[in-house]
Parts: sequence; C-alpha cells; structure tokens
Amino acid sequence: MACSSLVKLNASTSPWIGHQSFNQRSRSCRQAAPRRVAVVRAGAYSDELVKTAKTIASPGRGILAIDESNATCGKRLSSIGLDNTEVNRQAYRQLLLTTPGLGQYISGAILFEETLYQSTTDGKKFVDCLREENIVPGIKVDKGLVPLPGSNNESWCQGLDGLASRSAEYYKQGARFAKWRTVVSIPCGPSALAVKEAAWGLARYAGISQDNGLVPIVEPEILLDGDHPIERTLEVAERVWSEVFYYLAENNVMFEGILLKPSMVTPGAEHKERASPDTIAKYTLTMLNRRVPPAVPGIMFLSGGQSEMEATLNLNAMNQSPNPWHVSFSYARALQNSVLKTWQGRPENIEAAQKALLSRAKANSLAQLGRYSADGESDDAKKGMFVKGYTY
Ligand code: 13P
Repeated sequence: MACSSLVKLNASTSPWIGHQSFNQRSRSCRQAAPRRVAVVRAGAYSDELVKTAKTIASPGRGILAIDESNATCGKRLSSIGLDNTEVNRQAYRQLLLTTPGLGQYISGAILFEETLYQSTTDGKKFVDCLREENIVPGIKVDKGLVPLPGSNNESWCQGLDGLASRSAEYYKQGARFAKWRTVVSIPCGPSALAVKEAAWGLARYAGISQDNGLVPIVEPEILLDGDHPIERTLEVAERVWSEVFYYLAENNVMFEGILLKPSMVTPGAEHKERASPDTIAKYTLTMLNRRVPPAVPGIMFLSGGQSEMEATLNLNAMNQSPNPWHVSFSYARALQNSVLKTWQGRPENIEAAQKALLSRAKANSLAQLGRYSADGESDDAKKGMFVKGYTY
C-alpha cells in the first residue's frame, strides 16, 4: 500500500521512474522493496562553493575579521577616543580595506552589513577594493546572542528567520562567504541544551548559506573564560564539535564547501598555569583530528582575546607538520589592535596604521606556513586582550 502510493506521488515528476508503465512499476514494487535514493545537496552553487572555500584556504593566507556590530565597533573606536558615528566607522574600515598589498596575506574579509554596502570616500565600493586584491568579501549573518531560557545562564544565537532572503541579497552585493558566531561557556556547564542549540543553529545556518551561494564559516566559539585546565577545554571542544558535525550531516551540508572557525584549545584564562604554544598546538590538533573530516578545506582560528603575538605563535606551532586541512587565521582583535593604536583617528597616521596591519597580516601568513619567528615583536603585540564575559 505504502509502495503504490509512493509510486503515484512520484509518477509525474520522478526522473527515476522513467518510461515504465504504471502496472510494471506496481509489479516491481511488490517484488522488491523500493530503492532508497541518497540525499545529496547538489545545489546550483556546489562547484562555486568548493572554489570559494579553496580560494580562502590558500597557502600563506587567512581572513581579516572586521565584522564587529556597530556597538562593538564603537568599543574599538572609543579605545582611541573616537565617537561611534557612521563616518568614523567608515573611515576605519576604509583604512583597513584599502591597505595596498593586503591580498598577499589576506584571502577573505568578513564585513558587517553596514560595511558591505559602503564605499570609500572616493565612491569605490569596498567589495570592489577587496576583489582587486583577490580578497573574497564575506558577511556576518547572525543577529547576535540572547539568553537561552532553561539553561545555566547561557545564550543562543538568533538570525535564522529571513536568513535565506538576506543571504541571497548579500550574494548579489558581492559576498561569497558568511559567518555565524555562537558561543559555548565552560564555566556555565556547558549544558546539553546549550550545546545542542549551538550545533543545530550552526547547521541550519550552514545549509541555508550553501543554498544561496555563500560558504558558511561555522563558529562555535568556546569562550576563554574560566579557571579550568586545558584537558577540560579539550573535553568540551570534542563534545561541541561532534554535535556540530552530527547536525551538519543531518542538514545535508556539503563538508567540502564549509570553513571552520574554532577556538584554540587552551586552559581557561584564569587558570593558574599558562600553556606553551607547543602544548596548545598539540591539544588543538588532537581535537581537530578526532572530530573534523579531512573533506573540510580550512580551519580558520579566532583569536578570542589572546595577544597578537600569542595568537601568531600558536598558529605557527600548529603548522610545524602537514595537516589534513589548511590551518590558518580569521582574527579580529589579534589583527586590529596595533592598527588602532597606530591610527588614533588621525589622517596623517593612516599610512603607518596600514603598515601595522600589513606587518600583523604578514606575521600570520608566515605562521600559516610554519615559518614565523617572534624576534623583534613590539611590547604592544605581546599584550593580552582577554576581557572577562566579552560580548561581540
Ligand atoms: P577575535 O579574533 O577577536 O576573537 O574575533 C573572532 C570573531 O569571530 C570575529 O569575526
């Protein structure tokens, strides 16, 4: 019965039924169970997604993350005494995105929606500035974190409603990859509910992004907060990533068309002992090797409050021997700190600030290739940027 209704339902549309007569089909149905057809996400964008992901994950290059919401960009600007106005945000982003030669070290730039639609003061679209440097424009698509009811003071990430139409618009505007950042807190548990919600939200977002031509960056940030040892971070990271991949598969997400943005596996920021770059690399790669299929093209770490130099040293340690994936960076704070300090909002400092960006980008490019040395790094580059309970 179930078999014949299946045949009737599909009779007019299924390419698998072909030219058999209805009676022939019913007969073969009675003889053998219907063949299952594997669900494969082979949308219109499959080839392009793979190409975009490979371009971003290209040797010696990584991502410049400048997708701070207006509120967070305001924090950056106020650190150098500037007001949080659209003009100041535009000026800062113009400084970053028009840095000559940036494309040698940077393969993708994650933008906030406002920036995606902005232009330089001379009227050139920011997305065109990026394309000229062979940098892929990306877009933050999540709508931020809100409290998760029924959890242990944890949060969940909003933004799935209307995401398909927003993503289609971003694609038209030139974006080719997307970012969705949700967080998991170790001191808060994490509860099974918070981990499941984070993983499910990321997977739904990833599927919607791929359907609309955007390579999804999958970012369940495990916050640095806490006094736990590195072993505890490893345990939580393994649990989080196993759930993320479970739901990515359930949502038929094409693994070769995604990028990951994990936190490095470190002790909690308030733990009594610090870990060396070699130890962080060992734990982080152990976690990734246990959880991430080699089909994934790139692992683009966040910096999470580490100092510029620490983030670069840790990345360098992870690239001392070959990995199944491109292991690189997608830093915000660890690429922008010296730039802001050098700029101070003054036009006469723009060139020096762009040089500061190039020098951080180059250091991380070398770290991606496993060839970085910290000799000669400034004191500023060594200063940590961890803020307890930091919100983006
Ligand atoms: P940080 O490198 O400052 O942790 O930024 C992470 C991020 O998600 C920005 O896109």
